[in-house]
Order: sequence, then C-alpha cells, then structure tokens
Amino acid sequence: TSAQIGVTGLAVMGRNLARNFARNGYTVAVHNRTASRTHALVEEFGGEGDFIAAETAKDFVTALERPRRLVIMVKAGEPTDAVIQEFAPLLEPGDMIIDGGNAHFADTRRRERDLREQGIHFVGMGVSGGEEGALHGPSIMPGGPKESYDSLGPMLEKISAKAKDGAPCVTHVGPDGAGHFVKMVHNGIEYADMQLIGEAYQLLRDVAGYSPARIAEIFRTWNTGRLDSYLIEITAEVLSHVDAATGKPFVDVVVDQAEQKGTGRWTVQIALDLGVPVSGIAEAVFARSLSGHAALREASRGLAGPTATPLGEAEAAAFADRVEQALYASKIVSYTQGFHEIAAGSEEYDWNVDLGAVSSIWRGGCIIRAAFLDRIRAAYDARADLPSLLSDATFAQEIAAAQDDWREVVVAATRQGVPTPGFSAALAYYDALRAERLPAALTQGQRDFFGAHTYRRVDQEGSFHTLWGGDRSEVSG
Ligand code: 6PG
Repeated sequence: TSAQIGVTGLAVMGRNLARNFARNGYTVAVHNRTASRTHALVEEFGGEGDFIAAETAKDFVTALERPRRLVIMVKAGEPTDAVIQEFAPLLEPGDMIIDGGNAHFADTRRRERDLREQGIHFVGMGVSGGEEGALHGPSIMPGGPKESYDSLGPMLEKISAKAKDGAPCVTHVGPDGAGHFVKMVHNGIEYADMQLIGEAYQLLRDVAGYSPARIAEIFRTWNTGRLDSYLIEITAEVLSHVDAATGKPFVDVVVDQAEQKGTGRWTVQIALDLGVPVSGIAEAVFARSLSGHAALREASRGLAGPTATPLGEAEAAAFADRVEQALYASKIVSYTQGFHEIAAGSEEYDWNVDLGAVSSIWRGGCIIRAAFLDRIRAAYDARADLPSLLSDATFAQEIAAAQDDWREVVVAATRQGVPTPGFSAALAYYDALRAERLPAALTQGQRDFFGAHTYRRVDQEGSFHTLWGGDRSEVSG
C-alpha cells in the first residue's frame, strides 16, 4: 500500500494534521527527524486510521503514491529550508511539497521559484486554528501553482473546517506566496482582535470597576450578539478561570508581557513596504512589544496620571454597552485595514486574490472565526470589487450607529488614563478617511519649503514649486 499524503515534522501541529488526514480515510505516511516521535504517534493514534511510519527520508518518499504530496510542518525559516533540501533531491517532476508552517511569503516565493526549476510544485499553505483546528478542521490557505490544487484541493476540503453553511474553509488563494501572505494578514488581524478585546477588558476593569468574573459574564453576553466569535468565547473562559494555587483570578497571576512569534510584526513590516495604513494592527504589535519592556515600564511607573473617578453602578452598565460599540466599530476598521493589505499584496504580486473567498474560508476553523466574517462575505457578495469594507453600506451604517459611543469610550479612556491604542487608532483612521481635507496639504507645503519637493494643486494639473527663498512666486515643478 502507498500513502496518499505524507507529513514530516510531528510536533503538535504536524501530528494533529496527520491524524486529521487519517481520520478522514487517507493513508498517511509520517516521518520525523527523530524516529521515536513517529513511532509514538502510530502507537498512540494508529487506531484512528492508516499510518505508514517512515524512519528515513527515503522510506518516507517511497511510501507516497505519485505524484507525491509531502506536507512539511517544521519551524519557519532555516528548518524549513533544511527539510526542503533534504527531500527535494528525492522527488520527481509533478511531486508536491506543501509547507504548512507560518512561513514568510517572501521565503515561499523564493522556494516556489527554486523548486519550479526542478518541476516540483511548491505549495505554501497557511493553516489556522491551533492544535485543535489542525485535528478537527482548520482553515486552510494554500497558495502555489493552480494545478497542484486539482489533486490536493479535494483532500484539503475534506480535512478543513466547514462553515455553518457547510462550505469547506479552504480555497486556492493564488500563486506562489499568496497563501502565506493571507495567513500572515490573518495573524495581523488576530493580533488586532486580541488587542481590542484586551482594551475592552481593561476599560471594564479600570473604568467600570468590574471584576474579571463579571467581565467574563459580559463577554459571554456579547458572544451571543454580533461579536460572536472564538476569541470572545475563549476570553470569557480565561477571565473566569481562577488560579488554583492562590485563589486569585488567573489573569492576575500571569506576567503581563505579551509575546509574539513574528507573523503580526511581518504584517506591519509588509504593510509599510506596500504603503498600506494598517494602524490598528500596528498598534496591536506595538502594544505587545511595549508590554515586554519591563525595565522601561518600571522606570516609568511613577509618572503622573489623571485622578481617576470610578463610575457608579448605573453609569458602569451604560459604559459597558458603549464599550461593546467601540469594540465592534474598531473591529470593522481592523478588518478594513487587513483586507486592504491583502488587496495591495495581490496587486503587487499579481495574485488575483478573491477577497470574498478569503472572508469565506475564515468563517470556520481559524483563530479569528466569527459571525462577523459572514457579514464581510455578504459585503463582497454584494460587490466583488468593494474598494474598502467601510464603503459597504451595512458596515457604514453600523459604524454610524456606533460612533457616538465609540468616541465617548475613547474620551473616557483618555480622561481616566487607560491606554486604548487600538480603539484610538481605529477611530483616527476612520476620521482621517472621511475627512474632507487633511493636513497633508501642509506637509506638502513644508516639504516644498525645505526641500523643493513640489506639490500638486487642487485647481490645475501638473506639479508646482514655490520660490520660498525668493519672491515666493510659483513655478512649474
Ligand atoms: C493560528 C494562529 C497561530 C499562532 C500564531 C500567533 O492561526 O492558528 O495564528 O498560527 O497562534 O503563530 O502566535 P504568536 O502570538 O506567538 O505570534
């Protein structure tokens, strides 16, 4: 017998993905650098389906039916290159290497180009949903050559999460690095969602004066409405958890320094390169890095803040409702920014990414899965070439209804000295986009003054320069 798919790299994500394939009736070859892990998997989970344990790279490749489908689930960066170098010489034209790690899309583009010369199809595949998703159905974002999807797609559709309407949460995202690019932006949005939720929590705690347990209840209520999502659900779980050792709320015994593995940071780095304003996502990344600067925070602890006045019970309840509005409006902005980045990447690299399809495959399985994604899907269904999510009538109306509360929340946070970089950046983005005039005109004047950088006029074509050091007459630039 031969295996329809192989998985190498059997840490938790690889192991669970392999089990998922096996549970769906595929024969799965499994391989790991240290063979003990391979045998442990088969021993523990062999009853779930058909596994072929391969000790060597050669055994692994031999176990696969042709064209071979070889999934690598190792750390992004050099370990991925090392595994590709190990296997590529053993493969034949038409075989597929599928990288299911969180690779940088530029690495994926390079690998795809190099392997294409050998006739090997390289599929950079974003996988979201953590360990549970990998096992029970992740959201899958494969890129790479379209023809690879003809044979790989049906298998991925089988193991992927299914949205509420039954649609599999996988699509061929686009050529070369498109899949990993979209996964990267997914993670940037994930960071932004988490930051916004964090700000909502902090406001409910410090401005409304609520306990973690009470805030958990509020999140549970929100989770029955338009904010219904995996991240809100687990937030309530985390907030209601009590530390066994101390009896304190779990959230109070965890060191408040957020870590990151890099995908959120990449989202912002690439956005800067593409010239896309992803201010909300950027604030989320910065907030994590700020939290980690322990010494700097320690040195700053004595700095002056406002005199905070806690709200009364009735005010606090009204405030909590406002926070829900602020969170929802800010969330619309994060997704607006993320989808803008995907559109810009697609344009830059000629990927032709279908934004509606992306919103569709994020409806289930992934970390940012939410009822909200159905609305985004609907927005793209109504208009496939939507210039921005904010131009969708439904979202525009929802923000219109939320904006007074959103502003009040940012004001209250500012007055009470609670940092809300996510809410504030989202609101500033919204106000900047809708502004009739921006101070960018002044920036242009300054640039022309000190560097003769020229400017355009509102009433004439062409570029102009004012002779600032002379008689201040205007010349063509
Ligand atoms: C997912 C997650 C997963 C992981 C990220 C973020 O979609 O399943 O995004 O890929 O959680 O790597 O991790 P950090 O918060 O450590 O950057």
